[in-house]
Amino acid sequence: MATELRTVEVAVLTSREAKREHAALGEEIAAHDVRYYNEDAPSISDAAYDALRQRYEALEARFPALRDGESLSTKVGAKPSERFPKVRHKVPMLSLANGFSDDDITEFVARIRRFLDLPIDRALTFTAEPKIDGLSCSLRYEAGCLVKAATRGDGEEGEDVTANALTVAGIPHTLVGDDVPDVIEVRGEIYMRHADFTALNVRQQEAGKPVFANPRNAAAGSLRQLDAKVTAARPLAFFAYGWGDYSALPEQTQSGVIAAFRRWGLPVNPLMECCHSAEDLLVHYRAIEAQRADLGYDIDGVVYKVDSLALQRRLGFVSRSPRWALAHKFPAERATTSVLAIDIQVGRTGTLTPVAKLKPVTVGGVVVSNATLHNEDEIARKDVRVGDTVVIQRAGDVIPQVTGVVLERRSAEAQAYVFPTVCPVCGAHAVREINPRTGRQDVARRCTGGLTCEAQAVERLKHFVSRNAFDIDGLGEKQIELFFAEGLVRRPQDIFTLAVRDAQSASKLKFREGFGETSVRNLFASIETRRQVALNRFIFALGIRHVGDTTAKLLARHYGSFDAFRAGALTAGQGISAEALNNEAWAELTAIDGIGEVVADAIVQFFVEPHNAETLDALLAEVTPFAMEVAVSDSPVAGKTVVFTGSLERMSRDEAKAMAERLGAKVAGSVSAKTDLVVAGPKAGSKLERAKELGIETIDEEAWLVLAGASS
Ligand code: IVH
Repeated sequence: MATELRTVEVAVLTSREAKREHAALGEEIAAHDVRYYNEDAPSISDAAYDALRQRYEALEARFPALRDGESLSTKVGAKPSERFPKVRHKVPMLSLANGFSDDDITEFVARIRRFLDLPIDRALTFTAEPKIDGLSCSLRYEAGCLVKAATRGDGEEGEDVTANALTVAGIPHTLVGDDVPDVIEVRGEIYMRHADFTALNVRQQEAGKPVFANPRNAAAGSLRQLDAKVTAARPLAFFAYGWGDYSALPEQTQSGVIAAFRRWGLPVNPLMECCHSAEDLLVHYRAIEAQRADLGYDIDGVVYKVDSLALQRRLGFVSRSPRWALAHKFPAERATTSVLAIDIQVGRTGTLTPVAKLKPVTVGGVVVSNATLHNEDEIARKDVRVGDTVVIQRAGDVIPQVTGVVLERRSAEAQAYVFPTVCPVCGAHAVREINPRTGRQDVARRCTGGLTCEAQAVERLKHFVSRNAFDIDGLGEKQIELFFAEGLVRRPQDIFTLAVRDAQSASKLKFREGFGETSVRNLFASIETRRQVALNRFIFALGIRHVGDTTAKLLARHYGSFDAFRAGALTAGQGISAEALNNEAWAELTAIDGIGEVVADAIVQFFVEPHNAETLDALLAEVTPFAMEVAVSDSPVAGKTVVFTGSLERMSRDEAKAMAERLGAKVAGSVSAKTDLVVAGPKAGSKLERAKELGIETIDEEAWLVLAGASS
């Protein structure tokens, strides 16, 4: 096997060995190129890729004869030696909440009216437009000229694709009009029309190159070409639907700004309409759905947005999506196929998740060979058996699901599936706990092996380095698996001692397959940069049950430091064991908007567990979490704890709360010594009295609006 040669230094290879390895490496690199550039689904880290590439070049440097017609180095447009520079978005590129049923849309409109406290006779206008199935792109125009184009990336940071965007036919290089602002970031979707997609695949096939699975992949793969000439030859199109950073806006409505975009020369979707009620939205949805097949490009739903920008500002955001918009998705696409096996995957918290291994089938343009079966009860409810013919569905980027069994096609031999009661990885008992609070049995069966279960330990490490956690360049799932298997990294803190141990080790990383001197150096450097890490990332990385990215941010914002968070959780835990559930720390934790008792319980459980305490101390000896930046720190209420009480007249309680949080304040449900400010409307009762007793500053709604800078 040529791959065994990888650990041998190039200098000592024979020419025959070098030839073998060169050919194998070439194939491997070409396959990675296809995954990265054409399918937009890389399977290795940039660092591991660079290491392969460097070794390939080192072989050619020593044996120049290898640089023949087959060499990757001689092929035009196929030498991606670097990747795109990163761009930080001034205004994050967020996502949209989804709705599926008519009821979801009625509820969306009602929710907005409730939040804004709009009486039924006050008009409320929405825009409705197709949701384009492509990839989003942010185009920054300064003095009317396109100066930067970036992909969405993780929403905070994307890739600089300026040279490529300049080759897209529909993207104007300059905006024309009297009212073009000095700065505007136009956001929209890059996509490929069906006819262009089909023609491109014919050309790809003729040239012996891989074909694209669907127009979305083709658009993504074409935009993310390092050689802009390749992008230029690909027929991409663009629709503008929104904006990020700006110096001024030409209009005060969504529809008005989009109309200005059109005047300035930007392509906008002709099917956008203004609607005035949920019924109106649904009529327009059905009209767009009826035209879907004839549009000539893929759409996957209809997007509704509140038209007034003033109302959009009041509505703000919930976690990663605007409260003022909704994506009404078209029903999921379905297909039937057969179940080859049922595998059990063991997750980070020990949950046993059954996965159906399927005979591969294309659903909505994507080949599907796995589908989640969720849990034991779901398998039993649907009675899915190995060998069954099942209906699977896939909606957008959601994991494919098994919706049901085609019973008429079940064979007489098919046996009911028996869910394992031991962990398939470590053999420990797998149990379904009873939740002490609800008295109900957990839906998940969990391995009781804890960190002695390798699957759990590995999954936790993968979580620790994942994108919203430590996000260490060059340390992805593959590397974690390898380091774990070799005993190099068993616990999170081991990551930070890796460089020192490697320096003392005889079998250094740089000699291993897939690693080169540069990639190891880069890996150690990126580990070093993460010794300082944002508090929310640190909290998320711990993998506390129920604490996802959003909850981690809430906790980081609320407590401000890790010590305060840990102390708060431990004190809250004392309250629980003494069965005095409402000690102040517990009240503080559960008063954070978005943190209920189940989450609070999981947090307390995490901190009281001795093993976690030990890991935390070891980890904190290596890394220092720093406080998250508060969005608006110059507000007079930033960092203060505010309590709203009584009835508010200019806004709903939810809006008041959201406004306070946007300004960097914490909102508490009850008045205590920690409260800084009480906003009291008419009919305020005991909370107002308590505030007076404690001598806490109390103001009315008008004064609050003045303080919040929203009084007009
Ligand atoms: S508005 C705050 N309008 O859908 C986000 N998005 O699921 C505002 N998309 O990342 C997005 N067509 O890539 C908007 N007409 C449309 C869209 C649209 C497609 C994409 C966009 C976004 C994703 C969110």
